[in-house]
Amino acid sequence: MNVILLGPPGAGKGTQGALLAERSGAVRIATGELLREAVRAGTPPGQKARKYVEAGELVPDDAILELVRERLADAPADGAIFDGFPRTVAQAEAFEALLAELGRSLDAVIVIDVAEDVLVRRLSGRRTCSACGAVYNADSGPPSVPGRCDVCGGTLVARADDDPATVRHRLGVHVEQTLPLIAHYQAAGTPVCHVDGERPVDEVQRDIVRSLRAAEDARRSEAHR
Ligand code: AP5
Repeated sequence: MNVILLGPPGAGKGTQGALLAERSGAVRIATGELLREAVRAGTPPGQKARKYVEAGELVPDDAILELVRERLADAPADGAIFDGFPRTVAQAEAFEALLAELGRSLDAVIVIDVAEDVLVRRLSGRRTCSACGAVYNADSGPPSVPGRCDVCGGTLVARADDDPATVRHRLGVHVEQTLPLIAHYQAAGTPVCHVDGERPVDEVQRDIVRSLRAAEDARRSEAHR
């Protein structure tokens, strides 16, 4: 299973991608997390990416593709979940060439739909563990002890790009540069499944799994024709 999770900032791509990876055994390739790790580690790619990530701008395509290529080389042949990648039509085209080169194919694109006012509220309440990266939300999923990670006891912090002005900018970037991917994949004949991301996390996950099964069934019956 090779699946893209697409959706605006705060739609729940990371939350759903982690659950799906746990359930399916597929590896999750989350470009935002990889970039934040590189920024924290101060590697040369991280130093280059920092200003883009903190400003809510997209990191140049070639740097992102290099990151994905490295991760995909180690991924098991049967599955990867792409969270936050591709984000532009140019990335999607380069990704198609990379998948072909590696003998992989794309099974489905899951689009998580959430209204803008809900996204802004969610992101203002998001807190991330500075040690292990676990994600919480002041409204929908708070930690047991305020400010402390339930998993490792680390300190919870707000992401640098979650301040309201940067969130508004990220939403604009999503509309301009990422939304065209839906039409791109529909035109390519890749199954594109919309799920309502405003419901509880486990219900959204159930819908994603159902959509992936339906896409798989459709693919099998097409192959038998
Ligand atoms: P990235 O980390 O990918 O950020 P994003 O796409 O803006 O998405 P988020 O991580 O903000 O949200 P999410 O959809 O994962 O939601 P989450 O599950 O955390 O990218 C960051 C930056 O890196 C980009 O701006 C760019 O600079 C760069 N970058 C990354 N990829 C790139 C690429 N391919 N090309 C170029 N640049 C790239 O949930 C959000 C909150 O809501 C959490 O608090 C969570 O607990 C809560 N929540 C989740 N689901 C629910 C629910 N169903 N109900 C209630 N609350 C929920």
